[in-house]
Amino acid sequence: MNLSIIGTGYVGLIAGACFAEQGHKVICLDVDKDKIIKLQKGISPIYEPGLEELLKKCISKGTISFTTNSKDAIENSKIIFIAVGTPQDEQGDANMQYFKEAAEQIGNYLNEYKIIVDKSTVPVGTAGGVSGIIEGELKKRGKKIKFDVVSNPEFLAEGSAIADFQSERVVIGSESEEAKKTLHELYAAGGNEKKKILLTDTKSAEIIKYASNSMLALRLSFINEVSELCEKVGANIEDVSIGVGMDNRIGPKFLKAGLGYGGSCFPKDIKAFISTMKKNGLNNGVIDRIEDVNQRQLDRTFKKVEQLVGNVNKKRIAVLGLAFKANTDDARESPAVKISKILLEHGAILSFFDPKAMENAKAFFPSSKFAKDAYDAVEECDALVIATEWEEFKRLDLNKIKGLMKAPNVIDGRNLFDPKKMKQLGFNYLSIGR
Ligand code: UGA
Repeated sequence: MNLSIIGTGYVGLIAGACFAEQGHKVICLDVDKDKIIKLQKGISPIYEPGLEELLKKCISKGTISFTTNSKDAIENSKIIFIAVGTPQDEQGDANMQYFKEAAEQIGNYLNEYKIIVDKSTVPVGTAGGVSGIIEGELKKRGKKIKFDVVSNPEFLAEGSAIADFQSERVVIGSESEEAKKTLHELYAAGGNEKKKILLTDTKSAEIIKYASNSMLALRLSFINEVSELCEKVGANIEDVSIGVGMDNRIGPKFLKAGLGYGGSCFPKDIKAFISTMKKNGLNNGVIDRIEDVNQRQLDRTFKKVEQLVGNVNKKRIAVLGLAFKANTDDARESPAVKISKILLEHGAILSFFDPKAMENAKAFFPSSKFAKDAYDAVEECDALVIATEWEEFKRLDLNKIKGLMKAPNVIDGRNLFDPKKMKQLGFNYLSIGR
C-alpha cells in the first residue's frame, strides 16, 4: 500500500520504517530540510536500537523515501498518517499548531479518496476537528472529495519501539467502516496474525491513549508512594513490588520504584488529560494526584543527598545517567536532569556521564563537567547519584569508584545495587524504598 507519514519525529520514523520493512511504499514528510537530507542518507536523528539499520535497509530496497514536498507525498498515498509533535502548551494542554498545519496541507492537496490517520497524541474530539479543517480547505479550493479520518494512537515505548511495533496492540477508531477495514488489513498483514486489534469510534480511541499513559503513570506514582512507606517502616520495595506483581490481575510491569517517571510522553500527557477532565467538569480525582507524588520522589532523593553530604553547596556530585530511562538518548523531562537541576540550584558542582544522552543534555548544564566515562565523572566527588538504570552502570567496578571518590556516598535513585553489598564495600548507600 502507498503510505505517507507527516512528521519524522519519534512516532513517525518508527512507523515509517516498520511499514516500509513490511513492504509498503512509504513517503516520510517533514518541514525540516536538514533532517530530511540526513534521513535520505540513512542517518537517524534519534537513537533507537535497530532504527538506523532498518532505515538503511528500506532505503536500499526502495520502500522508504524522505521529502519536504507535501504535494507529492499527499497525492501519492492512499493512507496519510499525521505523526507530528503535540508538545505541551503554557496551559498544560496539547499544543495543536503542527497538527492543524498538517491537516491544512492535506486539505490543500487532497486529490482523491484517502484515509487520514491521527497517530499523534491528541485530545478527545480532535478527529472531528481534523475533518472540519480538511473540509474547510477543500471548500476554499471549490472541491468536493471524500475522505475518512481514523484515530490510531501510538503505544510504542522508546528503547523497544521496533519490537513493540510488531507486538503492541493496535487501536483503530473511526466512524467509517470502510476506513476501519482498510486499517485493520494494513496492520493484520504485518506478519503477526495474533496481533490484538481493537476497532472502536474515534473518541474512544483518543481517550484510550491518554487513559493508558495515565494508568501507567498512576501505577508508578502508587509504587513510589509505597516505597516511602517501606523506608519509614524498614520494608523492602523490591520484594513488595514482586509480591504485588505476582497477582495475575496486577502483573509485574511498571512497578519499579525509582526517581519517578519522565520522558516526552507521560509528563505532558498526564497534564493534558487532567486539563481535559477539568474542561469536562471532572477534577479532584486520582489522576490529579499523579504528578505531585512524582515530584515528591525528586524532593525525597534530594533530601537523601543532604542526609549523606550535608549542605550540598560547593560539594562535588557526580550524576550517572541523564536519559529519562535506559536505552535512549532522550533527556526530555528526565528525572535525572530534574534532580541535577535541584542540586545545581543548591550550589552543587556537578559532573555527568550517560552512555547516550550527553549531547541532548549539555544545553541544560553549560558549566558542568561532561565526563568521558563513569570513573572520570566520580573523581574527587563527595557523592554519586545514580539517576538512570543503564545496564552498564550495574557492571561498574565499585572498588575503583570508591577509590576515585573523595567520600564514598552513593544515592541510588534506581536501586541498581544491593544495599548489603554496598555497605560491605564501605559505601554510605541510600536507595529507594529499602
Ligand atoms: C510511554 C508508554 O510506555 C508507551 O506505551 C507510550 O506509547 C509512550 O509513552 C508514548 O506515549 O509515546 P516511554 O515514554 O518511551 O513510553 O517510556 P516508558 O518506558 O513508559 O517509561 C516512562 C518513565 O517511567 C521513565 O522515566 C521510566 O524510567 C519510568 N519507569 C517505568 C519507572 O520508573 N518504573 C517502571 O517500572 C517503569
